[in-house]
Amino acid sequence: MEQFHVAIDGPAGSGKSTISQNVSNETGWQHIDTGAMYRAVTYWALKLNLNLADENSYEFLNKIDIKYLNNKVFINDIDLSSVIRSDDVTQNVSLVSKFSFVRKKLVEIQQNLAKNKNIIMDGRDIGTVVLPNANLKIFLTANIKVRAKRRYNEKLNNGQNVNLDELINNINTRDKKDSSRIESPLKIADDAVIIDTTYLSIRQVVEKIIEMIERRRK
Ligand code: C5P
Repeated sequence: MEQFHVAIDGPAGSGKSTISQNVSNETGWQHIDTGAMYRAVTYWALKLNLNLADENSYEFLNKIDIKYLNNKVFINDIDLSSVIRSDDVTQNVSLVSKFSFVRKKLVEIQQNLAKNKNIIMDGRDIGTVVLPNANLKIFLTANIKVRAKRRYNEKLNNGQNVNLDELINNINTRDKKDSSRIESPLKIADDAVIIDTTYLSIRQVVEKIIEMIERRRK
């Protein structure tokens, strides 16, 4: 059975999810958004009112069932795909994702999802930790103002109240936390292809990635 793994990493707002989903639509390969899983754990810990700063709080992960199916994330069969996008979850997810206990659990699920399958997986540590032997590793970047503007437009479209400067601050803070943590920080894998999406359309980035997939499959 063919197993072609595409790892897509990058900072917040670099377009990872949208681009991965588009590549998934064109190839017919499953897209796995690993950020959604860290968000689901964060949502659950907030719901249980746990002390997020204490690694022992996450022992609940031994008792729950986390699933990722058809682009949706479930805990104990409850679909959390919309609630994980709240500001509360976004502001706390980098704290939760720094703990090695949490990462170990989620990385295991992610590696199982990728086994014997063609897959597009996006996150922060896919090319470095989750799928170190991926056939293609992409690192997406974009200038902070452009990334914040993309989030701004998304939020406006969802009818949410937004302030651009606040978004720039929040994204910078989250990137700093994700890049400076000890366990699996956001970094560029040695063999990753870097794509700066600042001046590129989604279509242009997707075409580049599809071309690279085709070249490497020959
Ligand atoms: O991709 P998204 O912005 O939804 O990810 C939310 C958060 O989940 C990130 O800011 C990061 O803290 C964490 N994350 C991670 N490793 C991944 C994917 C996401 O630490 N592979």
